[in-house]
Amino acid sequence: MNIGVIGIGFVGAVTAAVLADQGNSIIALDIDSDKIARFNSGDIPIFEPGLKELILKNKKNLKFTADYKMLRGTEIIFVAVPTPNLNGKINLDYVYRAISSIKSINNDAIIVIKSTVIPGTGSKIKDEFNVNIVSNPEFLREGNAIEDTLHPDRVIIGGEEEYAEKVANVWKFTNSPILITTRENAELIKYASNSFLATKISFINEIANLCEKIPNADVETVAKGMGYDRRIGPLFLKAGIGYGGSCLPKDTEAFIKYAEELGEEIKIIKAARNVNEERIERIIKIMENKIGKIGGLRILQMGISFKENTNDVRESQALKLYYALIKKGANVIVFDPVSKIEGIRYCESIKACLNSIDAIVVATEWPEFKILEDMDLKIPVIDGRRILNPEKFEKYAGIGRHYGD
Ligand code: UDX
Repeated sequence: MNIGVIGIGFVGAVTAAVLADQGNSIIALDIDSDKIARFNSGDIPIFEPGLKELILKNKKNLKFTADYKMLRGTEIIFVAVPTPNLNGKINLDYVYRAISSIKSINNDAIIVIKSTVIPGTGSKIKDEFNVNIVSNPEFLREGNAIEDTLHPDRVIIGGEEEYAEKVANVWKFTNSPILITTRENAELIKYASNSFLATKISFINEIANLCEKIPNADVETVAKGMGYDRRIGPLFLKAGIGYGGSCLPKDTEAFIKYAEELGEEIKIIKAARNVNEERIERIIKIMENKIGKIGGLRILQMGISFKENTNDVRESQALKLYYALIKKGANVIVFDPVSKIEGIRYCESIKACLNSIDAIVVATEWPEFKILEDMDLKIPVIDGRRILNPEKFEKYAGIGRHYGD
């Protein structure tokens, strides 16, 4: 099929590359012409495992452009532009701009909203612009996005059956369950899912808080035991310094605001957010308990991205921890396999800085950090993501392990 994708961020780029690889002709559009130039020259500005290779492999039927006219003749256009929050409320300006630009050059295409939008948005756009709108929310995890696009747990499609079926056809190759429903349900499924994931994480983090006070308790084992129950499941029960990224913090916030406008208070999601906000204080407390006063200490922080396998630092708890430690007067140096941001002191290799540090804190769950286990470390190691084996360290403390009062 001839397919357009608007907004070549991480969701748009992955969607475009995977659909091109399935044999579709893709026009990938972004209004940022510098970004387009980079995609065209093969210098892919997004770090996502496998993405660059997939784009280069499908060069022939994957065209990057900043020119809306190129979307003439496309049958389906995916909109994957950002929907940032403004004062806690979703801002739909980019979506509206994209729709009116499409409207001016192609009135026949089915417009598929991939961007996260509050329930009712798709139908409102349909009425205002008189265009065919289908909602098809994304559930991609950064770092796993290609796999998640090829084999999603489910595909959710909201809209009139005639158009929804056409979009369903695009995703048929996934062999995943496809749920066709109303636009509103589809839009809600996205918010409810992300809010549930955030709640699950905050739930286990509160159990972790308890474990820290109970002799012989360890949240890792508690989570494992809970996870065997099929009604609960083992995923997203990893205690740590909290969730971050471009979705969970933003979506929970926008969802609460949206509910408030409907006269509803979603108490559980509010609580999940509050618990998440306390995570940095918690890890600092564990550090102080293990190492003593933080001011003046030389600390190696492992990881700055919001999770493993990405260079994304949006709403990163690791980044928040970095600033909190600096504020406490610590001398922090960071090791991260890919993420480099200005103003932060990095060390090139872990070994290179081992001689000049007093303690280590793990802030991101990069599997590479397991290497610390083989370094015969004598200094305190504080595990904010519970990825290390405590037995491999002389002085270990971690989230969700008993350490006293
Ligand atoms: C998320 C959703 O998973 C995805 O479905 C949605 O469409 C976009 O948002 P992503 O932002 O890539 O994906 O990150 P995710 O893998 O969900 O992790 C979010 C955060 O939660 C990370 O900071 C991670 O460190 C943290 N996390 C995750 C935990 O602390 N514990 C867990 O058990 C899982």
